[in-house]
Amino acid sequence: MYRGCLLYASSLLILGAFYPRALSESTDGRFPSVAPPLSRQKRSNLDKNPDGTTFVWLLQDSYEGKTFYDTFEFFNYSDPTNGAVTYVDRDHAFDKKLVYITDDNKVIMKSDNTSWLAHGQFRESVRIQGRKHYHTGLFILDLDKAPWGCGVWPAFWTIGEGQWPHAGEIDIFEGVHDNQHNQVTWHTSPGCHLTPNATFTGSPVIMSGKQHTDCNGLLPGNPGCGIVEWSRASYGPLFDAQGGGVYAMKWDENGISVWSFFRAAVPQDIFDGSPNPSTWGPPVAFLHPARCDPLKFFVNHSIIFDITFCGRFNELKIRLFEVLSYE
Ligand SMILES: *[C@@H]1O[C@H](CO)[C@@H](O)[C@H](O)[C@H]1NC(C)=O
Ligand SMILES: *[C@@H]1O[C@H](CO)[C@@H](O)[C@H](O)[C@H]1NC(C)=O
Ligand SMILES: *[C@@H]1O[C@H](CO)[C@@H](O)[C@H](O)[C@H]1NC(C)=O
Ligand SMILES: *[C@@H]1O[C@H](CO)[C@@H](O)[C@H](O)[C@H]1NC(C)=O
Repeated sequence: MYRGCLLYASSLLILGAFYPRALSESTDGRFPSVAPPLSRQKRSNLDKNPDGTTFVWLLQDSYEGKTFYDTFEFFNYSDPTNGAVTYVDRDHAFDKKLVYITDDNKVIMKSDNTSWLAHGQFRESVRIQGRKHYHTGLFILDLDKAPWGCGVWPAFWTIGEGQWPHAGEIDIFEGVHDNQHNQVTWHTSPGCHLTPNATFTGSPVIMSGKQHTDCNGLLPGNPGCGIVEWSRASYGPLFDAQGGGVYAMKWDENGISVWSFFRAAVPQDIFDGSPNPSTWGPPVAFLHPARCDPLKFFVNHSIIFDITFCGRFNELKIRLFEVLSYE
């Protein structure tokens, strides 16, 4: 059965950390930033490290509006594990209006919802991957709607290059059909663990009656380490009904944090273009650096958006795009 194909309109901002003193020195894997003098930055804008030192986040890249799709590759390989989906190339996606930009500059990505398909035929959909790589940053995604419903499986995630999972994967937004909560998941090479007593509002994924804190993507079934958001407005009908919201992922030497804000709760500093995560309250999910070096297990990530179908979600198999059976 297939129902529902909602649109998903987004803008994505990526910010780099700016340390005034480090400007003329090595950027240490960070973006070399050309920034206005700190004196011209708003004071409220100063993010804090755990040791009390401060820095600001500056806009590095903005993906939105008419040029949104210019900076992404359309992934159109057929992967047998993807089961019921065919990812189409750029021309086809535009021709079939699976991707387009509205007159008011909303970015739309959708899957085919008009073709009648025989059992076993694959439905056309879109998977795009950014050309640019980032090593740390603040990633802010504004979503008006996300597709949901039986068999629809949208995701926003980042991944490193080379042999998976050695450069890590961060699943920021992973709605799974009939699951009304977002799940944040990290997949890494062996040696990275979630610190379950760190400060975050979500709940670590339970497997076999225990919190599963090992992020090793090479374990059987590749569960990774995941945290489920408590808010039902984080994904699904409620997320859409109240106007979507903002997902923010902060990745630096202090760890990897994810916040989600439903529309009415989006912090004003995000709209103002001067986001300051230290004022946002606890994240929904947090990978503490004590048991997982965020700069070593996660390297040079690019961004992926996609929508797949009929993936059956299984707690033991939460790797994206694994399809256990065709419905
Ligand atoms: C396909 O999706 C569009 C956009 O959500 C919607 O307006 C339309 O009614 C859908 N068509 C079908 C056949 O479900
Ligand atoms: C992907 O798209 C390119 C460009 O249109 C095309 O040449 C190629 O054959 C496609 N690959 C697959 C596996 O469909
Ligand atoms: C978590 O608990 C362990 C063991 O009690 C402690 O050593 C560690 O500091 C705690 N970590 C955090 C982030 O609270
Ligand atoms: C990450 O990218 C930077 C800049 O392109 C490059 O210098 C560095 O070698 C890359 N790191 C790895 C581990 O691939």
